[in-house]
Amino acid sequence: MQVAGGAITRVEQGLQATPGKVIDASGMYVLPGAIDVHVHSRDPGFPEKEDFASLTEAAAAGGVTVVLDMPNTVPAVDGAGVLESKAALARSMARVDFGLWGLIRSTTTSNQLEDMAAAGAVGFKAYLAYSFSLSRKQVLYSPGVDDPDLEPPADYGTLARLAPAVARLGLPLAVHAEDPAVLAAFGRPLAAYQDLLDSRPAEGESVAVSAAAAVARESGAHLHIAHLSSAIGLQAAEDARRAGTTLTLETCPQFLLLTADDYDRVGTAMKMLPPIRTAADRDALVDGLRRGVIGIVSTDHAPHTDEEKSRSLEEAPAGSPGVQTLYLSCLQLAKNLGDAWLAPRWVCEAPARLAGLDRSKGAIAPGFDADLVIVDPRRKTRVTPRLMKSRQRHGAMEGQEFDFAIEQVFLRGERVDGAKKARGRMARPARIA
Ligand code: NCD
Ligand code: ZN
Repeated sequence: MQVAGGAITRVEQGLQATPGKVIDASGMYVLPGAIDVHVHSRDPGFPEKEDFASLTEAAAAGGVTVVLDMPNTVPAVDGAGVLESKAALARSMARVDFGLWGLIRSTTTSNQLEDMAAAGAVGFKAYLAYSFSLSRKQVLYSPGVDDPDLEPPADYGTLARLAPAVARLGLPLAVHAEDPAVLAAFGRPLAAYQDLLDSRPAEGESVAVSAAAAVARESGAHLHIAHLSSAIGLQAAEDARRAGTTLTLETCPQFLLLTADDYDRVGTAMKMLPPIRTAADRDALVDGLRRGVIGIVSTDHAPHTDEEKSRSLEEAPAGSPGVQTLYLSCLQLAKNLGDAWLAPRWVCEAPARLAGLDRSKGAIAPGFDADLVIVDPRRKTRVTPRLMKSRQRHGAMEGQEFDFAIEQVFLRGERVDGAKKARGRMARPARIA
């Protein structure tokens, strides 16, 4: 392979070494950089949990060369102005490229979606079970009741109202698919991990997937289900696809590698929403990935401080870092399924298509950005806090062992693992218009 000016110029066997730098990758895998379509930078808002520098250092160390950041930073990204200032902040710190999701609130208008699209949003995200604090401009974990400061969550009506505009813009409509009515019926104090499972039953996911799919169907909008966590959620998605909804699915390494039984070992580091469920759910999701029904693996990288995460199950905030272990997890899962080379489909090719970046990212081909990862398939990696670049060092993946090691990572032809330079650019969807 030959690289010049940050792009891949030739991909052939037996290329003669020309003047320049030659990297010998014999015995290694050379893979495209990964695109993590679901991360929470916490920046702006909570830089003590994570900022664009620590997020993208973790990404670079793990072979992720593009992160797509969710809009629940503070102030939430609910319009073009906020999106542009967040882009400027990210540009000043990012070690890898980044894209930005825009937020759908229950009050969002189609004009606001158009403006965010023009400002470069990769898509829009609706949180069905989270309310919005008007004074803090923040998405909150609970729907809340009778508080004039809390705007109700986006609901199926919001999705139905905005789906035609989203379809016109040709961008994905991502949904945090937990149905608030189902959650409300099962709410309870969280004394043991089983309470978390009982309070967020998988029906919350399957109902939300079915209803969101039903309201998106006629408009032709592309619905994207974030962090799919259950067997019945997957079943609902397959049914919806059969009924004609344009639908993509994303699940995460924690749902593919862990189960509720890991709680005794891992503790509150694995508290997240939706929760990590049963072995039957895990097996169904792995099978969905194997069958190609689930196309994308993202991380829902959602760090908090280690202090916050050391609180009780009830008090600890939900979320875990994950971006640094995305590629390794997927290589391992793919190897377990018989072919490690499946991993780039889940973390490069399908994510690039989702984000409209498939003309420049997600593959090794002439003209594409030289975002490259060299992986040693003979060296193992064990996840320890010392290795982690995120502010939260104890995550859900702690203790996992992978049969691979990330050796070198390049963004547009330059090493970025361990680099402190802010070379990241904003990745904008290439529109066909
Ligand atoms: C996410 C967060 O903390 O921002 N937490 C989580 O447990 N998944 C929110 C989200 O992705 O829904
Ligand atoms: Zn979510």
